[in-house]
Amino acid sequence: MTERSLVLIKPDAVARGLTGTVLARYEAKGLKLAALELRTIDAALSDAHYAEHLERPYYPSLREFITAGPLVALVLEGERAIEAVRALNGATDGVKAAPGTIRGDLCLSGSQNIVHASDSPESAAREIALWFPGL
Ligand code: PPS
Repeated sequence: MTERSLVLIKPDAVARGLTGTVLARYEAKGLKLAALELRTIDAALSDAHYAEHLERPYYPSLREFITAGPLVALVLEGERAIEAVRALNGATDGVKAAPGTIRGDLCLSGSQNIVHASDSPESAAREIALWFPGL
């Protein structure tokens, strides 16, 4: 079942020079790039992207972080891509994420945690339409 997933390489990873390292993990797995863009987003796009999290106590710091500098948005395509990307990313908290995963190998944080990825076909469709309209 071929799927697409929206992935963000977050500002912490771009600032640390890890964009290529992260992209290489996805490509090595066999996922294909369908879109890619470096951009710095505003609060409105953050609010739309994280709509389900707006009322959470951590959201103000998440918005400050995600708008603070350039990130890389991409769409990855492949067999069960949504599940495959989330498995590669590892758990949200970098300390708890298994070694061998992107977060488990590259961060110690649950907020500055390198990557975001769609968590369901519905969220992938919504997020891809938001970040890459017309794709
Ligand atoms: S939930 O409630 O289970 O959906 O929450 P969780 O999956 O743990 O986290 C959702 C996203 O919020 C980010 N997050 C934070 N960002 C900044 N600061 C703080 N304190 C913080 N806490 C959680 C977390 O990294 C998840 O981001 P995404 O981009 O969806 O992976």
